[in-house]
Amino acid sequence: MCGIYGYLGHRNGVKIALDGLKRIEYRGYDSAGLAAITEGKLEYFKEVGKLSELERLVGDLSSPTVIAHTRWATHGRVTRENAHPQLDESKNIAVVFNGIIENYQLLKEKLQQEGVTFVSETDTEVLPHLIARIYDGDFLKAVQQALLLLHGSYACAILHRDHPNEMIVAAHSCPLVIGMAAQETFVSSDPNALVHHTREVIYLSDGEVAKITLEGVEIFDATLAQISKETEQILHSVEETTKGNFEHYTLKEIFEQPQTIRNAMLSRFFEEYGTVAIDGLHISASDLLSIKRFLIVSCGTSFHAGLVAGYMLEDLAGVPTQVEISSEFRYKNPIVQEGTFVIAISQSGETADTIAAVREIKAKGAKILAVCNVQGSTLAREADNTLFLRAGPEIGVCSTKAFTSQLAVLSLFALLMARTKHMSKLEGQNFLHSLQKLPEQVQRVLDLAPQIEKIAKKYSRYDHFFFLGRRYMYPTALEAALKLKEIAYVNANGYPAGEMKHGPIALIDEECPTVALCADKVTFDKLLSNLMEVKARHGKVIAIAHEGAKGLENTVDEVIYVPDTTDELAPILSTVAAQLFAYYVAKERGAEIDRPRNLAKSVTVE
Ligand code: F6R
Repeated sequence: MCGIYGYLGHRNGVKIALDGLKRIEYRGYDSAGLAAITEGKLEYFKEVGKLSELERLVGDLSSPTVIAHTRWATHGRVTRENAHPQLDESKNIAVVFNGIIENYQLLKEKLQQEGVTFVSETDTEVLPHLIARIYDGDFLKAVQQALLLLHGSYACAILHRDHPNEMIVAAHSCPLVIGMAAQETFVSSDPNALVHHTREVIYLSDGEVAKITLEGVEIFDATLAQISKETEQILHSVEETTKGNFEHYTLKEIFEQPQTIRNAMLSRFFEEYGTVAIDGLHISASDLLSIKRFLIVSCGTSFHAGLVAGYMLEDLAGVPTQVEISSEFRYKNPIVQEGTFVIAISQSGETADTIAAVREIKAKGAKILAVCNVQGSTLAREADNTLFLRAGPEIGVCSTKAFTSQLAVLSLFALLMARTKHMSKLEGQNFLHSLQKLPEQVQRVLDLAPQIEKIAKKYSRYDHFFFLGRRYMYPTALEAALKLKEIAYVNANGYPAGEMKHGPIALIDEECPTVALCADKVTFDKLLSNLMEVKARHGKVIAIAHEGAKGLENTVDEVIYVPDTTDELAPILSTVAAQLFAYYVAKERGAEIDRPRNLAKSVTVE
């Protein structure tokens, strides 16, 4: 979604802010802008398209007080007028803003009746006008009072021409991080963009407003009562936010998976008892035993991880599990009975739909376990317990390493639940041994990259694909199809193989290949019959199957064999092969892999 960057200090903040915007570029944007105070003047620049356009416009401008923005259009088209900063009529106040002002139409009409002229189609523009009307010399108070009039979610940074050494920032249900260094302060919507300058950060919570000056940072609650907040440390390294020798972040992140999966499991095994001990999980055995039902909420790739977890929690732990897409769930009237335990899965911890679903469920009294990658994120802060993925920053817009880490962490939780209930120590130890083998097995899948690339090149001309699987391979098929859709812009339909005959098989012909996810052993024979049905209609089939699978070579056109593991863990290995397939198809088709069109890394609006 949109990205904010701000600087206040003694150096040239323009260069720092432009560099900051480049670091959040991966999140997706369509236009960018910047405002700076120089010699008592508020200067601003905005442009659609690439950041280099904005850089060109800005030239050699120098200022120690700067706010900057990348926009991903929600309200209003992609135009220069709609880019941020948005300004008041006298051009004294500049606002960069993430989020949505739900009541902006009402506020806009009221302001227009009072004679204010709007120049953009954005919801944000109401804010500088409101601040200007309230302002009586006290910048902080004017911002705080204007913010009280907004309904919605936001993170923003604001400058006023008459307060050249001051920046006001605020957040409500959208991330905003303040980075503290000696006599300079950085602001961003993404902590990854701060780590080059400082690791000492403060995350703003809902309704908080901060006043940043050369003397430091003062934080206030929504009523302007001053509060004190502890600084936190960003833990990941600068190297983790670079591409290294890889052509794309996405490829680098696919190849990191042996290590990220190892990290997800590190010091969480309790081998002697065939179970796990998970940091961040403060739930007693009796609390676990009182769980009658799991409810999992998540979106996109995280939803697919939730579906796999649903099978695991029912199969291994015997607990009924409902898996819901957050954006649908938030508009249901959820029935959260006693004994319901909620798992919210989100790589970023900032997905607006998942956070809204969690708030609705929390209000009904249920406890929330977050499965999340980003320390300090809204979800991690609001959940009762958080299992961190420890996957490091995921920069590629399409989620790869976070998915396999989600599966690893969720399988640890399913094992804990199963062992607490009825699974024997020996079965638990066997499961741990299968988990232990995963990093090396993932490496073996990565070693297949040349074979997968060859197959991907051969099939890259097709515009329509089916991805089929059964049981654990059904969510795997959904995830594999999503990867191809989002990075190669190919129409890919993920489907449960058994459903094909109920309609979709009508689409199969020689121009619509099928990728068959075959590594679920319980349903392997059934899947094979479904593939025969595809072949009988001249459909080409590329199978991703476990080593030792029999009867495929005579049925399908291509086979990629991945190492054998338990059905529960097979999605991890098959997904890595599918990620490589999507990557190489995308590369062959010349698609923009790290920042697919129309997408944003973290979906902080509804
Ligand atoms: C797909 C992808 C998205 C995200 C979804 C949820 O590759 O990245 O589908 O999985 O937007 O994001 P998080 O996990 O951050 O809540």
